[in-house]
Amino acid sequence: MNIIQLRREYTDKPLHKEDLHVNPLKQFEQWFNDAIETKILEPNAMSLATVDTQGCPSIRTVLLKLFDEKGFVFFSNYQSQKAKDIAQNRHVALHFAWLDLQRQLRIEGDIEKISTKESLTYFLSRPRGSQLGAWASNQSEIVSSRSLLESKFFELKQKFANGVVPLPDFWGGYRVKPRRFEFWQGGRDRLHDRFAYEKNLRGEWEISRLAP
Ligand SMILES: Cc1cc2nc3c(=O)[nH]c(=O)nc-3n(C[C@H](O)[C@H](O)[C@H](O)COP(=O)(O)O)c2cc1C
Repeated sequence: MNIIQLRREYTDKPLHKEDLHVNPLKQFEQWFNDAIETKILEPNAMSLATVDTQGCPSIRTVLLKLFDEKGFVFFSNYQSQKAKDIAQNRHVALHFAWLDLQRQLRIEGDIEKISTKESLTYFLSRPRGSQLGAWASNQSEIVSSRSLLESKFFELKQKFANGVVPLPDFWGGYRVKPRRFEFWQGGRDRLHDRFAYEKNLRGEWEISRLAP
């Protein structure tokens, strides 16, 4: 198979500045709903980029679980590699690839932990297996075998057999507070539409068209 021949012309509707909502969150909401309606696999999957103390970036997928004017929330292990990066550097980036819609969305901003109360509310809504999975995994640490992980899971299942599974103190939510958004819609002849939202000195969102 010749990779060079893998080529797709983007032909969906062009994106005009007048089509965009003045509030990027509302624009996000519209695109997110489109992604859900299109039945894209995991429409809430987003890439999270962090940077370590050496300035080296890394990236992984996480699931968006909440969004509002305060920001974009996902859940993770507070001792993972990403958590170590975040503890040292609050600047992060998010990326949604909604390729069935010929769209990508980039978000840059600062990240913070959400309150324990908010994390608990979400944790209690998770299936029991996912709650135990959070307890069982020292995320990002080396684990010698799958069976070790499974026996730890089984032990925890016994331990918490009666009653609710408590929220681990090493697990919870993060909120990304956006500083910049960029909405990208694929266009014909690689003349894609790109619109960036950034706040001006008056704290209002300004929209600029960028060259593709
Ligand atoms: C579709 C998908 C969804 C995922 N969702 C999450 C998530 O919400 N939270 C999380 O901590 N890891 C999630 N992961 C696993 C992460 O990509 C990653 O492996 C893990 O968080 C460890 O990353 P780190 O070592 O960089 O900290 C997901 C992976 C995939 C493929």
